[in-house]
Amino acid sequence: MTKKVHIKTWGCQMNAYDSGRMADVLKALGYTSSEEAEDADLVIFNTCHIREKAAQKLFSELGRLRPLQEAKAAKGERMIVAVAGCVAQAEGKEIQRRAPYVDIVLGPQTYHLLPEMIAKVARENGGVLNTDFPPEPKFDYLPEPSACATSAFVAVQEGCDKFCTYCVVPYTRGAEYSRPPEAIIKEALALTANGAKEITLLGQNVNAYHGESSTGEIWTLARLIEKLADLPGLLRLRMMTSHPRDMGEDLIAAFRDIPKMMPYLHLPVQSGSNVILDAMNRKHTRDDYKRLIDRLRAVRPDLALSSDFIVGFPGETDKDFGDTMKLVREVGFAQSYSFKYSRRPGTPAASMKNQIPEKTKDNRLHELQALLRDQQMGFNQGMVGKTVPVLFDDNGSRKTQVFGRTPWMQPVYVATTAGEHAAFSGMEMNVKIAEATLNNMKGSLV
Ligand code: 5AD
Ligand code: SF4
Repeated sequence: MTKKVHIKTWGCQMNAYDSGRMADVLKALGYTSSEEAEDADLVIFNTCHIREKAAQKLFSELGRLRPLQEAKAAKGERMIVAVAGCVAQAEGKEIQRRAPYVDIVLGPQTYHLLPEMIAKVARENGGVLNTDFPPEPKFDYLPEPSACATSAFVAVQEGCDKFCTYCVVPYTRGAEYSRPPEAIIKEALALTANGAKEITLLGQNVNAYHGESSTGEIWTLARLIEKLADLPGLLRLRMMTSHPRDMGEDLIAAFRDIPKMMPYLHLPVQSGSNVILDAMNRKHTRDDYKRLIDRLRAVRPDLALSSDFIVGFPGETDKDFGDTMKLVREVGFAQSYSFKYSRRPGTPAASMKNQIPEKTKDNRLHELQALLRDQQMGFNQGMVGKTVPVLFDDNGSRKTQVFGRTPWMQPVYVATTAGEHAAFSGMEMNVKIAEATLNNMKGSLV
Protein backbone atom coordinates (compact mmCIF):
# COMPACT_ATOMS: atom_id res chain seq x y z
CA MET A 1 0.00 0.00 0.00
CA THR A 2 1.41 3.40 -0.84
CA LYS A 3 1.31 6.07 1.82
CA LYS A 4 1.28 9.80 1.30
CA VAL A 5 3.66 12.35 2.74
CA HIS A 6 3.08 16.09 2.63
CA ILE A 7 6.14 18.27 3.26
CA LYS A 8 5.87 22.01 3.75
CA THR A 9 9.14 23.93 3.64
CA TRP A 10 10.12 27.36 4.92
CA GLY A 11 13.42 29.20 4.64
CA CYS A 12 16.66 28.71 2.79
CA GLN A 13 17.80 26.53 -0.11
CA MET A 14 19.38 24.18 2.40
CA ASN A 15 15.93 23.52 3.85
CA ALA A 16 14.48 22.93 0.38
CA TYR A 17 17.33 20.51 -0.28
CA ASP A 18 16.71 18.73 3.05
CA SER A 19 13.01 18.38 2.23
CA GLY A 20 13.94 16.73 -1.05
CA ARG A 21 16.25 14.33 0.74
CA MET A 22 13.58 13.50 3.34
CA ALA A 23 11.21 12.71 0.47
CA ASP A 24 13.92 10.41 -0.95
CA VAL A 25 14.34 8.57 2.37
CA LEU A 26 10.58 8.16 2.66
CA LYS A 27 10.20 6.93 -0.90
CA ALA A 28 12.16 3.88 0.13
CA LEU A 29 9.47 3.28 2.77
CA GLY A 30 6.68 3.48 0.20
CA TYR A 31 5.66 7.11 0.69
CA THR A 32 4.69 9.19 -2.33
CA SER A 33 4.69 13.00 -2.14
CA SER A 34 1.42 14.86 -1.92
CA GLU A 35 0.67 18.57 -2.42
CA GLU A 36 -2.14 18.38 0.14
CA ALA A 37 -1.92 17.89 3.87
CA GLU A 38 -5.45 16.54 3.88
CA ASP A 39 -5.44 12.77 3.92
CA ALA A 40 -1.66 12.54 4.17
CA ASP A 41 -0.34 9.72 6.34
CA LEU A 42 2.66 11.80 7.29
CA VAL A 43 2.93 15.59 7.41
CA ILE A 44 6.33 17.23 7.83
CA PHE A 45 6.82 20.92 8.53
CA ASN A 46 10.40 21.82 7.68
CA THR A 47 10.94 25.07 9.54
CA CYS A 48 13.27 28.06 9.52
CA HIS A 49 14.38 30.02 12.58
CA ILE A 50 16.51 32.73 11.03
CA ARG A 51 14.10 35.59 11.60
CA GLU A 52 11.08 36.30 13.78
CA LYS A 53 7.65 34.75 13.82
CA ALA A 54 8.94 31.32 12.76
CA ALA A 55 7.54 29.68 15.88
CA GLN A 56 4.23 31.57 15.64
CA LYS A 57 3.85 30.53 12.01
CA LEU A 58 4.55 26.94 12.94
CA PHE A 59 2.02 26.88 15.76
CA SER A 60 -0.70 28.39 13.60
CA GLU A 61 0.00 25.81 10.85
CA LEU A 62 -0.11 23.07 13.46
CA GLY A 63 -3.42 24.46 14.72
CA ARG A 64 -4.84 24.21 11.20
CA LEU A 65 -3.56 20.69 10.82
CA ARG A 66 -5.03 19.38 14.08
CA PRO A 67 -8.66 18.99 12.79
CA LEU A 68 -7.36 17.07 9.75
CA GLN A 69 -5.46 14.77 12.03
CA GLU A 70 -8.56 14.27 14.18
CA ALA A 71 -10.76 13.64 11.14
CA LYS A 72 -8.37 10.93 10.07
CA ALA A 73 -8.33 9.43 13.56
CA ALA A 74 -12.16 9.34 13.48
CA LYS A 75 -11.87 7.08 10.41
CA GLY A 76 -9.51 4.84 12.35
CA GLU A 77 -6.50 6.08 10.39
CA ARG A 78 -3.36 7.77 11.54
CA MET A 79 -1.72 11.03 10.47
CA ILE A 80 1.81 11.26 11.82
CA VAL A 81 2.92 14.86 12.29
CA ALA A 82 6.61 15.76 12.27
CA VAL A 83 8.33 19.10 12.80
CA ALA A 84 11.80 19.34 11.28
CA GLY A 85 14.35 22.07 10.67
CA CYS A 86 15.76 24.85 12.77
CA VAL A 87 12.67 25.69 14.86
CA ALA A 88 12.58 22.02 15.85
CA GLN A 89 16.24 22.23 16.81
CA ALA A 90 15.83 25.43 18.81
CA GLU A 91 12.41 24.89 20.37
CA GLY A 92 11.85 21.13 20.41
CA LYS A 93 10.69 20.94 24.02
CA GLU A 94 8.32 23.89 23.60
CA ILE A 95 6.76 22.23 20.53
CA GLN A 96 6.12 19.03 22.47
CA ARG A 97 4.59 21.01 25.32
CA ARG A 98 2.35 23.29 23.23
CA ALA A 99 1.38 20.78 20.56
CA PRO A 100 1.47 17.34 22.15
CA TYR A 101 -0.15 15.85 19.04
CA VAL A 102 3.13 16.39 17.17
CA ASP A 103 4.60 12.89 16.93
CA ILE A 104 8.15 13.63 15.84
CA VAL A 105 10.46 16.58 16.41
CA LEU A 106 13.70 16.25 14.51
CA GLY A 107 16.65 18.59 14.08
CA PRO A 108 18.48 19.13 10.77
CA GLN A 109 21.18 16.58 11.60
CA THR A 110 18.91 13.57 12.11
CA TYR A 111 16.89 13.26 8.88
CA HIS A 112 18.52 9.95 8.04
CA LEU A 113 16.95 8.55 11.23
CA LEU A 114 13.44 9.43 10.05
CA PRO A 115 12.45 5.84 9.14
CA GLU A 116 13.48 4.70 12.61
CA MET A 117 11.51 7.49 14.25
CA ILE A 118 8.40 6.74 12.21
CA ALA A 119 8.62 3.07 13.15
CA LYS A 120 8.98 4.03 16.79
CA VAL A 121 5.91 6.27 16.67
CA ALA A 122 3.91 3.54 14.98
CA ARG A 123 4.98 1.04 17.65
CA GLU A 124 4.67 3.09 20.77
CA ASN A 125 2.14 5.78 20.10
CA GLY A 126 4.37 8.23 21.92
CA GLY A 127 6.21 11.31 20.70
CA VAL A 128 9.79 11.22 19.50
CA LEU A 129 12.26 14.05 19.96
CA ASN A 130 15.61 13.84 18.22
CA THR A 131 17.59 17.03 18.00
CA ASP A 132 21.03 15.53 18.61
CA PHE A 133 24.10 16.29 16.62
CA PRO A 134 25.00 12.63 16.00
CA PRO A 135 28.63 11.85 15.25
CA GLU A 136 27.86 10.00 12.02
CA PRO A 137 27.15 12.58 9.33
CA LYS A 138 23.61 12.29 8.03
CA PHE A 139 24.78 12.59 4.42
CA ASP A 140 26.35 9.13 4.60
CA TYR A 141 22.98 7.60 5.36
CA LEU A 142 20.72 9.37 2.92
CA PRO A 143 19.92 7.73 -0.40
CA GLU A 144 20.95 9.37 -3.62
CA PRO A 145 18.58 12.03 -4.85
CA SER A 146 15.94 10.70 -7.17
CA ALA A 147 14.33 13.87 -8.48
CA CYS A 148 15.38 14.80 -11.97
CA ALA A 149 15.44 18.50 -12.70
CA THR A 150 17.38 20.68 -15.12
CA SER A 151 18.67 22.66 -12.20
CA ALA A 152 19.74 20.62 -9.19
CA PHE A 153 21.28 21.29 -5.80
CA VAL A 154 24.04 19.43 -4.02
CA ALA A 155 24.86 20.20 -0.39
CA VAL A 156 28.63 20.25 0.01
CA GLN A 157 28.92 21.58 3.51
CA GLU A 158 26.63 22.44 6.34
CA GLY A 159 26.75 24.42 9.53
CA CYS A 160 28.84 27.42 10.44
CA ASP A 161 31.54 28.36 12.92
CA LYS A 162 31.51 32.08 12.21
CA PHE A 163 29.14 33.15 14.97
CA CYS A 164 27.93 36.43 13.52
CA THR A 165 26.34 37.99 16.58
CA TYR A 166 22.81 38.15 15.09
CA CYS A 167 22.62 34.64 13.66
CA VAL A 168 21.14 31.36 14.94
CA VAL A 169 22.69 29.11 12.30
CA PRO A 170 25.77 28.07 14.35
CA TYR A 171 23.36 26.97 17.11
CA THR A 172 20.68 25.25 14.99
CA ARG A 173 22.82 23.76 12.23
CA GLY A 174 25.88 23.15 14.35
CA ALA A 175 29.58 23.30 13.55
CA GLU A 176 30.92 23.50 10.03
CA TYR A 177 31.04 20.10 8.35
CA SER A 178 32.30 19.44 4.80
CA ARG A 179 31.30 16.30 2.93
CA PRO A 180 34.05 14.18 1.37
CA PRO A 181 34.63 15.17 -2.28
CA GLU A 182 33.99 11.61 -3.54
CA ALA A 183 30.45 11.61 -2.10
CA ILE A 184 29.70 14.95 -3.74
CA ILE A 185 31.09 13.89 -7.10
CA LYS A 186 29.03 10.69 -6.96
CA GLU A 187 25.85 12.61 -6.20
CA ALA A 188 26.55 15.14 -8.95
CA LEU A 189 27.24 12.34 -11.41
CA ALA A 190 23.91 10.70 -10.55
CA LEU A 191 22.12 14.03 -11.05
CA THR A 192 23.70 14.72 -14.44
CA ALA A 193 23.01 11.14 -15.51
CA ASN A 194 19.38 11.91 -14.67
CA GLY A 195 19.38 15.00 -16.86
CA ALA A 196 20.57 17.82 -14.60
CA LYS A 197 22.32 20.54 -16.62
CA GLU A 198 23.01 22.97 -13.82
CA ILE A 199 24.29 22.22 -10.33
CA THR A 200 24.29 24.66 -7.46
CA LEU A 201 26.68 23.74 -4.67
CA LEU A 202 24.96 24.51 -1.41
CA GLY A 203 26.17 25.36 2.04
CA GLN A 204 25.62 27.93 4.75
CA ASN A 205 29.25 28.79 4.16
CA VAL A 206 29.87 27.09 0.88
CA ASN A 207 33.25 28.65 0.17
CA ALA A 208 34.57 27.50 3.55
CA TYR A 209 34.37 24.00 2.06
CA HIS A 210 37.34 21.82 3.02
CA GLY A 211 36.32 18.21 2.41
CA GLU A 212 38.71 15.39 3.19
CA SER A 213 39.15 12.78 0.48
CA SER A 214 39.65 9.06 1.10
CA THR A 215 43.38 9.60 0.65
CA GLY A 216 43.42 12.20 3.40
CA GLU A 217 43.77 15.22 1.14
CA ILE A 218 41.83 18.37 1.90
CA TRP A 219 39.94 19.71 -1.11
CA THR A 220 39.00 23.36 -1.46
CA LEU A 221 35.80 24.43 -3.17
CA ALA A 222 37.82 25.58 -6.19
CA ARG A 223 39.29 22.11 -6.60
CA LEU A 224 35.85 20.54 -6.30
CA ILE A 225 34.44 22.93 -8.89
CA GLU A 226 37.29 22.15 -11.26
CA LYS A 227 36.53 18.45 -10.94
CA LEU A 228 32.76 18.85 -11.32
CA ALA A 229 33.24 20.99 -14.42
CA ASP A 230 34.40 17.82 -16.19
CA LEU A 231 31.05 16.08 -15.73
CA PRO A 232 29.60 15.23 -19.13
CA GLY A 233 26.31 16.93 -19.83
CA LEU A 234 26.76 19.57 -17.17
CA LEU A 235 26.50 23.11 -18.53
CA ARG A 236 26.47 25.36 -15.50
CA LEU A 237 27.90 25.49 -11.99
CA ARG A 238 26.87 27.83 -9.21
CA MET A 239 27.42 28.13 -5.49
CA MET A 240 25.56 29.54 -2.54
CA THR A 241 26.06 31.11 0.07
CA SER A 242 29.58 32.50 0.27
CA HIS A 243 31.29 34.48 3.01
CA PRO A 244 33.67 37.31 2.06
CA ARG A 245 36.30 35.92 4.43
CA ASP A 246 36.55 32.58 2.62
CA MET A 247 36.89 33.85 -0.93
CA GLY A 248 40.32 32.35 -1.66
CA GLU A 249 42.59 33.16 -4.59
CA ASP A 250 41.89 29.79 -6.25
CA LEU A 251 38.14 30.35 -6.07
CA ILE A 252 38.48 33.79 -7.64
CA ALA A 253 40.59 32.16 -10.37
CA ALA A 254 37.81 29.60 -10.94
CA PHE A 255 35.57 32.45 -12.11
CA ARG A 256 38.22 33.27 -14.70
CA ASP A 257 39.29 29.77 -15.78
CA ILE A 258 36.18 27.62 -15.67
CA PRO A 259 33.66 28.54 -18.36
CA LYS A 260 30.91 26.49 -16.69
CA MET A 261 31.22 28.66 -13.58
CA MET A 262 28.36 31.13 -13.94
CA PRO A 263 29.07 34.87 -13.60
CA TYR A 264 26.85 35.29 -10.57
CA LEU A 265 27.85 35.37 -6.94
CA HIS A 266 25.78 35.67 -3.79
CA LEU A 267 28.21 37.30 -1.38
CA PRO A 268 26.42 38.80 1.63
CA VAL A 269 27.96 41.94 3.09
CA GLN A 270 25.18 42.63 5.67
CA SER A 271 26.27 46.25 6.32
CA GLY A 272 28.45 48.97 4.84
CA SER A 273 29.51 50.38 8.21
CA ASN A 274 32.76 49.24 9.79
CA VAL A 275 31.39 49.88 13.27
CA ILE A 276 28.38 47.64 12.62
CA LEU A 277 30.41 45.00 10.77
CA ASP A 278 32.63 44.78 13.83
CA ALA A 279 29.65 44.52 16.20
CA MET A 280 28.26 41.81 13.94
CA ASN A 281 31.55 39.89 14.25
CA ARG A 282 31.80 39.70 10.48
CA LYS A 283 35.59 40.07 10.63
CA HIS A 284 35.77 42.09 7.43
CA THR A 285 35.56 45.81 6.71
CA ARG A 286 33.72 47.64 3.94
CA ASP A 287 37.06 48.14 2.19
CA ASP A 288 37.91 44.43 2.42
CA TYR A 289 34.60 43.74 0.70
CA LYS A 290 35.15 46.34 -2.00
CA ARG A 291 38.68 45.13 -2.69
CA LEU A 292 37.37 41.61 -3.02
CA ILE A 293 34.74 42.72 -5.51
CA ASP A 294 37.42 44.56 -7.50
CA ARG A 295 39.51 41.40 -7.68
CA LEU A 296 36.52 39.34 -8.78
CA ARG A 297 35.50 41.84 -11.42
CA ALA A 298 39.07 42.09 -12.67
CA VAL A 299 38.95 38.40 -13.63
CA ARG A 300 35.26 38.26 -14.56
CA PRO A 301 34.07 41.69 -15.70
CA ASP A 302 30.48 40.50 -16.30
CA LEU A 303 30.10 39.12 -12.75
CA ALA A 304 26.70 39.93 -11.27
CA LEU A 305 26.60 40.31 -7.51
CA SER A 306 23.91 39.63 -5.00
CA SER A 307 23.95 40.25 -1.27
CA ASP A 308 22.07 40.07 2.01
CA PHE A 309 21.63 43.19 4.13
CA ILE A 310 20.46 43.72 7.69
CA VAL A 311 19.18 47.15 8.71
CA GLY A 312 18.61 48.29 12.27
CA PHE A 313 21.26 46.13 13.90
CA PRO A 314 21.70 47.28 17.54
CA GLY A 315 23.53 50.60 17.67
CA GLU A 316 23.13 51.38 13.95
CA THR A 317 23.17 55.18 13.58
CA ASP A 318 21.98 57.23 10.61
CA LYS A 319 25.63 57.51 9.61
CA ASP A 320 26.09 53.72 9.74
CA PHE A 321 23.01 53.24 7.63
CA GLY A 322 24.28 55.93 5.25
CA ASP A 323 27.49 53.90 4.89
CA THR A 324 25.42 50.90 3.80
CA MET A 325 23.58 53.00 1.20
CA LYS A 326 26.92 54.35 -0.02
CA LEU A 327 28.41 50.86 -0.33
CA VAL A 328 25.40 49.72 -2.35
CA ARG A 329 25.87 52.66 -4.72
CA GLU A 330 29.58 51.99 -5.05
CA VAL A 331 29.32 48.24 -5.68
CA GLY A 332 26.05 47.88 -7.59
CA PHE A 333 24.02 44.73 -7.04
CA ALA A 334 22.02 42.73 -9.56
CA GLN A 335 19.78 41.25 -6.89
CA SER A 336 19.59 41.35 -3.11
CA TYR A 337 17.78 40.30 0.01
CA SER A 338 17.34 42.80 2.81
CA PHE A 339 15.92 42.34 6.26
CA LYS A 340 15.14 44.25 9.41
CA TYR A 341 17.30 43.06 12.25
CA SER A 342 15.39 40.48 14.24
CA ARG A 343 16.31 39.62 17.81
CA ARG A 344 17.09 35.91 18.08
CA PRO A 345 17.06 34.61 21.65
CA GLY A 346 20.43 33.24 22.71
CA THR A 347 22.50 35.22 20.19
CA PRO A 348 24.86 37.94 21.47
CA ALA A 349 23.13 40.77 19.60
CA ALA A 350 19.78 39.98 21.23
CA SER A 351 21.09 41.26 24.56
CA MET A 352 22.89 44.32 23.18
CA LYS A 353 21.65 47.50 24.83
CA ASN A 354 21.00 49.88 21.96
CA GLN A 355 18.21 48.10 20.07
CA ILE A 356 16.74 50.17 17.22
CA PRO A 357 13.05 51.19 17.23
CA GLU A 358 10.85 49.29 14.78
CA LYS A 359 9.84 52.51 13.01
CA THR A 360 13.46 53.40 12.25
CA LYS A 361 14.08 49.88 10.93
CA ASP A 362 11.01 50.21 8.69
CA ASN A 363 12.19 53.50 7.24
CA ARG A 364 15.70 52.26 6.61
CA LEU A 365 14.51 49.04 5.00
CA HIS A 366 12.20 51.03 2.76
CA GLU A 367 14.99 53.35 1.66
CA LEU A 368 17.48 50.54 1.07
CA GLN A 369 15.00 48.40 -0.84
CA ALA A 370 14.12 51.30 -3.15
CA LEU A 371 17.80 51.63 -4.07
CA LEU A 372 18.28 47.88 -4.49
CA ARG A 373 15.17 47.71 -6.67
CA ASP A 374 16.52 50.50 -8.89
CA GLN A 375 19.77 48.64 -9.32
CA GLN A 376 18.04 45.36 -10.10
CA MET A 377 15.76 47.07 -12.60
CA GLY A 378 18.73 48.81 -14.22
CA PHE A 379 20.61 45.53 -14.44
CA ASN A 380 17.70 43.72 -16.09
CA GLN A 381 16.94 46.56 -18.48
CA GLY A 382 20.57 46.62 -19.54
CA MET A 383 19.88 43.25 -21.18
CA VAL A 384 17.15 44.53 -23.50
CA GLY A 385 18.22 44.12 -27.11
CA LYS A 386 21.01 41.70 -26.18
CA THR A 387 21.13 38.02 -27.05
CA VAL A 388 21.87 35.81 -24.06
CA PRO A 389 22.04 32.05 -23.43
CA VAL A 390 19.02 30.82 -21.49
CA LEU A 391 18.88 27.41 -19.81
CA PHE A 392 15.29 26.22 -19.95
CA ASP A 393 13.69 24.38 -17.07
CA ASP A 394 11.38 21.40 -17.16
CA ASN A 395 8.40 23.53 -18.09
CA GLY A 396 5.74 21.15 -16.82
CA SER A 397 2.38 22.77 -16.70
CA ARG A 398 2.65 26.21 -18.31
CA LYS A 399 0.65 26.35 -21.50
CA THR A 400 1.81 29.37 -23.44
CA GLN A 401 5.37 30.02 -22.38
CA VAL A 402 8.59 28.34 -21.32
CA PHE A 403 10.83 29.48 -18.51
CA GLY A 404 14.58 29.58 -18.11
CA ARG A 405 17.42 31.58 -16.63
CA THR A 406 20.30 33.65 -17.97
CA PRO A 407 23.83 33.06 -16.66
CA TRP A 408 23.10 35.95 -14.27
CA MET A 409 20.07 34.17 -12.75
CA GLN A 410 17.48 36.38 -14.40
CA PRO A 411 14.19 34.60 -15.14
CA VAL A 412 13.30 34.66 -18.85
CA TYR A 413 9.99 33.72 -20.47
CA VAL A 414 9.63 32.77 -24.11
CA ALA A 415 6.22 32.37 -25.72
CA THR A 416 5.48 28.88 -27.07
CA THR A 417 2.70 26.43 -27.58
CA ALA A 418 2.23 23.52 -25.19
CA GLY A 419 3.40 21.00 -27.80
CA GLU A 420 6.80 22.66 -28.04
CA HIS A 421 7.69 22.35 -24.37
CA ALA A 422 9.65 19.14 -24.55
CA ALA A 423 12.02 20.69 -27.08
CA PHE A 424 13.04 23.32 -24.52
CA SER A 425 13.46 21.28 -21.33
CA GLY A 426 17.07 21.18 -20.25
CA MET A 427 18.29 23.01 -23.35
CA GLU A 428 20.43 26.10 -23.42
CA MET A 429 19.37 28.40 -26.25
CA ASN A 430 20.08 31.95 -27.33
CA VAL A 431 17.30 34.38 -26.61
CA LYS A 432 17.04 38.01 -27.67
CA ILE A 433 15.66 39.98 -24.76
CA ALA A 434 12.77 42.23 -25.72
CA GLU A 435 11.41 43.41 -22.37
CA ALA A 436 12.66 43.52 -18.82
CA THR A 437 10.95 44.31 -15.54
CA LEU A 438 12.14 44.07 -11.97
CA ASN A 439 11.49 40.35 -11.67
CA ASN A 440 11.55 38.88 -15.13
CA MET A 441 12.36 39.29 -18.78
CA LYS A 442 10.72 38.30 -22.03
CA GLY A 443 12.35 37.42 -25.30
CA SER A 444 12.37 35.23 -28.35
CA LEU A 445 14.69 32.58 -29.75
CA VAL A 446 17.25 33.71 -32.27
N1 5AD B 1 17.85 39.36 11.74
C1 5AD B 1 17.72 39.74 10.44
N2 5AD B 1 18.28 39.09 9.41
C2 5AD B 1 19.03 38.01 9.70
N3 5AD B 1 19.70 37.17 8.91
C3 5AD B 1 20.28 36.23 9.69
N4 5AD B 1 19.98 36.43 10.98
C4 5AD B 1 19.20 37.55 11.01
C5 5AD B 1 18.59 38.27 12.06
N5 5AD B 1 18.72 37.92 13.34
C6 5AD B 1 19.81 37.35 7.47
C7 5AD B 1 21.26 37.60 7.04
C8 5AD B 1 21.65 36.31 6.39
C9 5AD B 1 20.32 35.86 5.81
C10 5AD B 1 20.24 34.42 5.45
O1 5AD B 1 19.38 36.17 6.81
O2 5AD B 1 21.26 38.67 6.13
O3 5AD B 1 22.64 36.47 5.40
FE1 SF4 C 1 25.03 33.05 10.17
FE2 SF4 C 1 27.27 34.52 9.92
FE3 SF4 C 1 27.38 31.84 9.72
FE4 SF4 C 1 26.20 33.27 7.76
S1 SF4 C 1 28.40 33.37 8.37
S2 SF4 C 1 25.41 31.40 8.74
S3 SF4 C 1 25.26 34.93 8.93
S4 SF4 C 1 26.84 33.01 11.55
